[in-house]
Amino acid sequence: MASRIGLAITEGMPAPPPSADRRTAALLAWYDRAGRDLPWRVKSGRAEPYRVWLSEIMLQQTSVEAVKPYFTKFMALWPDVKALAAAEDHAVMTAWAGLGYYARARNLLACARAVARDYDGRFPQTEADLRALPGIGAYTAAAIAAIAFGERAIVIDGNIERVVTRLAAIDTVLPKAKPEIGAVLEGMVPADRPGDFAQALMDLGATICTPKSPSCLLCPLSEACLARARGQPTAFPVKPAKKGRKQLQGLAFVVLDPQARILVRTRAGKGLLAGMAEVPNVDWSAEPMGLQAAPFPAEWQRLKQPVIHIFTHIELRMEIAVARLPATAPAPEGMRWVSLERLGDEPLPTLFRKVIEAGLRALR
Ligand code: ADE
Repeated sequence: MASRIGLAITEGMPAPPPSADRRTAALLAWYDRAGRDLPWRVKSGRAEPYRVWLSEIMLQQTSVEAVKPYFTKFMALWPDVKALAAAEDHAVMTAWAGLGYYARARNLLACARAVARDYDGRFPQTEADLRALPGIGAYTAAAIAAIAFGERAIVIDGNIERVVTRLAAIDTVLPKAKPEIGAVLEGMVPADRPGDFAQALMDLGATICTPKSPSCLLCPLSEACLARARGQPTAFPVKPAKKGRKQLQGLAFVVLDPQARILVRTRAGKGLLAGMAEVPNVDWSAEPMGLQAAPFPAEWQRLKQPVIHIFTHIELRMEIAVARLPATAPAPEGMRWVSLERLGDEPLPTLFRKVIEAGLRALR
């Protein structure tokens, strides 16, 4: 059974000295006992900045379970920031393929190269210097400063927002509520364990103070929690109404030559999936497409079933056309033939893995 604290909190009361806050003490005691063991984590100690940075970038918008194998793979391939800085773009994008939000991988490399070049491979230690590096926003800078360098930074991610808005019954709509959340945290962050404090809140949000059915009976903060006292923990946080996803359509071409190779190319630009590999496909739009955009004339067969793929703001309905070439042909400009055996060496995002699988099933 979790330890309990008997604490009456009055709104507007001046914050006690951080290390003396009994909510903090109860939270840290819970973390020491029940916090998760994660590959990048050092409980009650400082983790290496490179490991903290790599894990925090991977964890942006991505679950702990999805990140674990990628973190292990990256550490094996590139054990320190100088090794990553020296890696080929293509190798890093390939290793990242499947994890999503590919701008993170491009920024990861840019950041590693900046740290290698400007800081001789040692991450800067302050939140402000970290914030100036590619791919490091307010949250990530604060998390690295707290977890790797012991800075008393205010770390606010989605889990922490939920825990704190409940704890203090903050009913201001997000993200406007952030300064109020920050003020509560300012009164709680302990000077001696700011990294453990942040990670304890994250774990509490992930395992106990969950969005739909929080386990208040097991929560080390339950006695102090104003939302629980009101009998409505799930009324917090207050979120703005969700915008719907844009519905787009595409048409992708899976073409197999007599040597069991398929045609791929690299996505240009800076947008979604830039720098990743894809099979030829027409620009996604609101309208259905015809075959006129095929990479060359062939006996195209349109599949009945599209691949539906959900991005954060887009629901994509990707139609698929397949063709088998009767003879080996040179790849059209900007494209390349890749044998099916070597597809694992290509930075193929999940969308195009699904498209290729569906296409090959039809060609079999
Ligand atoms: N989510 C983001 N960063 C995390 C961390 N350090 N521990 C647990 N969950 C996280």
